[in-house]
Amino acid sequence: MEMYTPEVMISEEEIALRIEALGQAITRDFDGEELVVICVLKGAFIFCSDLIKKINRPMTLEFISLSSYGEGTQSSGNVRLDMDITCNVEGKNVLIVEDIVDTGLTIKTLMAMLALRGPKDVRLASLLYKPSKLKHKVKIDYLGFEIEDKFVIGYGLDYAGRYRELPYIGVLNAGN
Ligand code: IMP
Repeated sequence: MEMYTPEVMISEEEIALRIEALGQAITRDFDGEELVVICVLKGAFIFCSDLIKKINRPMTLEFISLSSYGEGTQSSGNVRLDMDITCNVEGKNVLIVEDIVDTGLTIKTLMAMLALRGPKDVRLASLLYKPSKLKHKVKIDYLGFEIEDKFVIGYGLDYAGRYRELPYIGVLNAGN
């Protein structure tokens, strides 16, 4: 089996500092409001759990699972809904929490799906954004980090189901 040593791209400390700032911005922007936080599984689960602890607003938490990648590092071009949320978002403030916007297809599809359900407002928090790969215009209201076009793993993100447990964002380098 091929061995990989992930190289650190964004450290645990940098992530924590950025999440603190995002949480403060969200708390401020939703002043006097309640929100439904939708965590996009599986990749956003660590980011979402750290982020909601920094948001000082009444909220409920939902999970949704979408897949577009399969086992590889390239988007398949199709988004499949594997698991839906369990609440009605009509008239509610929705905050989608995503791990990474790459081509933008997943978020564009999710936004279109949610818009049909009549929410009051839908905003997006994404830990990462790869501008070089963007094909579908997406507005990221709360962005962690813009990154170069490298396949990243860790802090919830996987390669073929692995590396989600790493506390930092890393890059896979073959053979070292
Ligand atoms: P998009 O639909 O092309 O924007 O891709 C979004 C999804 O692809 C994310 O939610 C991730 O699950 C996955 N993805 C995109 N780039 C990466 C990466 O560099 N590492 C791990 N997963 C990625």
